[in-house]
Amino acid sequence: MSEPVSPGVPRHVAFDVPRHVAIIMDGNGRWAKARGLPRVAGHREGAKAVRRTIQAAIDHGVPYLTLFAFSSENWQRPADEVADLTFLMKHYLRNELAELHEKGVRLRVIGERERFGPALAEELDAAERKTASNTKLTLVMAISYGGRAEIVTAVKRAMLAGVSPQEITEQSFSGFLSTADLPDPDLLIRTSGEQRVSNFLLWQIAYAEILFTPGLWPDFGAAEFAAALENYATRERRFGARPV
Ligand code: IPE
Ligand code: IPE
Ligand code: MG
Repeated sequence: MSEPVSPGVPRHVAFDVPRHVAIIMDGNGRWAKARGLPRVAGHREGAKAVRRTIQAAIDHGVPYLTLFAFSSENWQRPADEVADLTFLMKHYLRNELAELHEKGVRLRVIGERERFGPALAEELDAAERKTASNTKLTLVMAISYGGRAEIVTAVKRAMLAGVSPQEITEQSFSGFLSTADLPDPDLLIRTSGEQRVSNFLLWQIAYAEILFTPGLWPDFGAAEFAAALENYATRERRFGARPV
């Protein structure tokens, strides 16, 4: 595989297995609708797909997995759906945390967790602390996350830290993002056939390989994950340089 050589672009090594996979988990509502079920049934089934995907990432030796679970724009959904999603996240965390910890998963949360209320925010803080020294997989959950909001917050942080315009570089600016210590995604997957980014990781996906898959999120699992990695392995990453 090619090595990026363009100056200013972080030097990634093109592994056959991506170092960081990010997923826009879409299509829960349509999955439920197709079965004549309420949307919440799709979200519940989606949580099972999350489980399978984490295991698949571990099995393939992918060290970073970021899952888009709730966007800053998802607050515009009806209150009952937001409540269902909040409930499911709490439920998922309580049920899965011990097992995730046992598997060596380090949990990281990005996005405005406070908006879900202090109780869930504190539980998420505690889960991050508990799993902080795990090394098998870093699982980044994006909740109440928006890429533009994240960039604006980073600008504010840099200003509050008294950073001068001369000191702002792509690299130093990255340090003010919520993903400061994480590598950029190599592969971005979006399920459900929608071909858009929906305000996810705008800065970080500058050179991600993108894969739009037709299946709905609740149907995602080991086979779909493996197929995505296979597809990724066929790509030639150039980072703006000429292939060697
Ligand atoms: C993804 O499924 C889950 C969230 C965005 C929270 P959707 O709820 O967006 O499902 P569709 O797109 O309506 O099928
Ligand atoms: C993106 O899905 C957000 C998540 C998967 C959490 P949406 O279903 O909210 O995106 P749009 O509205 O179709 O762009
Ligand atoms: Mg959707």
